[in-house]
Amino acid sequence: MSAPVGAGVRNAARARIAARTLRTDRWWQTPALTVLGLVAFIVYATVRSFARTAYWVDDYHYLTPFYSPCVSASCLPGSSHFGVWVGELPRWIPLAFVSLPFLLLFRLTCYYYRKAYYRSFWLSPPACGVAEPHRTYTGETRFPLIVQNAHRYFFYIGFVISLVNTYDAILAFHSPSGFGFGLGNVILVVNVILLWGYTLSCHSCRHVTGGRLKHFSKHPVRYKLWTYISKLNARHMQFAWITLGTLVLTDFYIMLVASGTISDLRFIG
Ligand code: FES
Repeated sequence: MSAPVGAGVRNAARARIAARTLRTDRWWQTPALTVLGLVAFIVYATVRSFARTAYWVDDYHYLTPFYSPCVSASCLPGSSHFGVWVGELPRWIPLAFVSLPFLLLFRLTCYYYRKAYYRSFWLSPPACGVAEPHRTYTGETRFPLIVQNAHRYFFYIGFVISLVNTYDAILAFHSPSGFGFGLGNVILVVNVILLWGYTLSCHSCRHVTGGRLKHFSKHPVRYKLWTYISKLNARHMQFAWITLGTLVLTDFYIMLVASGTISDLRFIG
C-alpha cells in the first residue's frame, strides 16, 4: 500500500522516490525474525500460564516464574511462598494474576521492545530507508500509545517482581532431607541473574539512578551506580532476548521434572 502524495512519507517536503525502498539487502530479515521470536514466546507463555499443570516440584521447591507469586487457594500446597491472599480462581484467571499483567506491561512499554514491535508488527518504519505504509504519524502523543510514558512505574513493579523471583530461587535450595542443590537450581539462578540484568539495564532504571543530576561530583554514589547501569544499558536488547529464552527454558525444565518426564540432576540432597 502506498500513501497518496502529500501524506506521510509522500509529503511534498520529502524526496520524490516512487519505490518503497531502494535497498537491495535483506532488510526484512530482522523484522521477520523479531515477529517469529515474539510470537513464539507469547504463544508458549500464554499456554503455560493457563495450563495449571507441572509448575511446582514439591521435593525441591522449584516454582516456575510463570506461576510466581502463587497467592490463591487454587495453588498447589507449598507453592504459595507469600501466603494465600484469595480463594479458588476460575480457570480463565492465571495463577500468577498478581504479576503477569505487570510483567506484560513492563515488557510491552520497554524502550527496546517498542522499537522491535513498532518496526516488525506496525512497520513504522520496518527498517531504515524503507517507507512505512501509514499515512499519518502521531507517535506516542495520544491514547493508547501515550501509556508508554508510564514505563518507569512498570519498572518499579518489575523490580519488585525480580525480588520475588530471587526469593523463589533461594527457597529452591531444598530437598526432602533439608538443603539440596541440583541442575534445576543452576537454571533458576542463571535465569534470575539474567532477569536482574534485564531489569537493571532498563532505561528508566538508568534515569532513576543518574537522571536530572546537574553535578555528578556532588552525588558520587548515584554517579557510580549510573556508570554501572549505563554499561548494562548498552546490552539491554541482548538481555531482552536472552531472558525470553531463559524464562522458557526454566519453565520447560521445571515442567519436565514436575510432570515426572525426567528426574532432576541432583548434586546434593
Ligand atoms: Fe526496557 Fe525499561 S525494560 S527500557
